[in-house]
Amino acid sequence: MSATAIAFPNIALIKYWGKRDEALIIPQTSSLSLTLAVYPTTTTVSLLSESAPHEVLQDGAPMPQAAAAKVARFLDHVAELAGTTRAARVETSNAGPTGAGLASSASGFAALAAAASAAYGLDLSPRDLSRLARRGSGSASRSIFGGFAVWNAGSDDLTSYAEPVDDARIDAAMVLGIVNAGAKPISSRDAMRRTVETSPYNAPWVATNPTELAFMRDALRRGDFTAVGEISERNALRMHAAMLGAVPPVRYLTAGSMALLDAVAELRNTGLEAYATMDAGPNVKTLCRSAEAASVRDALAAAAPGIEFVIAEAGPGVSVSDHGVSVSGQGPTAIAGPGAPR
Ligand code: DP6
Repeated sequence: MSATAIAFPNIALIKYWGKRDEALIIPQTSSLSLTLAVYPTTTTVSLLSESAPHEVLQDGAPMPQAAAAKVARFLDHVAELAGTTRAARVETSNAGPTGAGLASSASGFAALAAAASAAYGLDLSPRDLSRLARRGSGSASRSIFGGFAVWNAGSDDLTSYAEPVDDARIDAAMVLGIVNAGAKPISSRDAMRRTVETSPYNAPWVATNPTELAFMRDALRRGDFTAVGEISERNALRMHAAMLGAVPPVRYLTAGSMALLDAVAELRNTGLEAYATMDAGPNVKTLCRSAEAASVRDALAAAAPGIEFVIAEAGPGVSVSDHGVSVSGQGPTAIAGPGAPR
């Protein structure tokens, strides 16, 4: 059996930063994101014979050791769920940069969860697929769904999953400012562990999450773009404040990131509403109204020459194609909605 899945990255507006259970990837807090329509990961999983080791290829070459080991552990878990010890071959490719804070692990493990569960013959609900993806990378739980998704922190494996936010009434897009597409200096996994263990700002970061998430959900429901933007930008800054307080400090933002934050603030002064959010890397994603995305991109490109800007509209949930032994002319099947980019 083999299956191919396509999944898209997501960018959190209420961030996930810190785990309460490292093995199961149960987060300290709930988070909320927008799935994007750019930089998909495409992954094919094919079952091999019983005793073979897993094979993990990225863009046709063996994946680097540490990343391949993570994928192999994930496959072991899927095989166990399916009640088999058969190995699998994984072939994956990212359309965007890998490990640069552009959510490649979110699209990567969402695609792997969908392709592997289909290849191993598991028929998972979207919720169970989200739980499975979460075990590969926390943020991947949200890329199962298109548009806005909320990952409920929960307290154990059964209760920690993402689901679509189906009452959001804003048409948002993001303009991705690629300050640096290289791999990040420290993985988000290590950096968030250090924040939890050493930052005096971790506790207030956790304590303020429920009200911030409630404000965000309310703003989405009311279609209040200004409130959504303001909450997003301050949430990202607070996450970076928490990591700056770690010992030793974790700093992903560079002078280039700060210059873009200034440029985004300047756009607001000129009447173009835009808000910045940053993850585990220097790149700045600017949230804007979908109808104004081209104007925001042009204004940012004028303010920051030399930086590449990419418009990302809201994207779809994960989809599976080529499911089975032989497939003829079958397009991708959306397995978790909302399926179409909005
Ligand atoms: C800053 O999901 O990559 O992008 O669960 O350890 O794999 P692991 O971490 P990961 O962390 C994402 C952190 C973030 C914020 C977010 O996406 O919510």
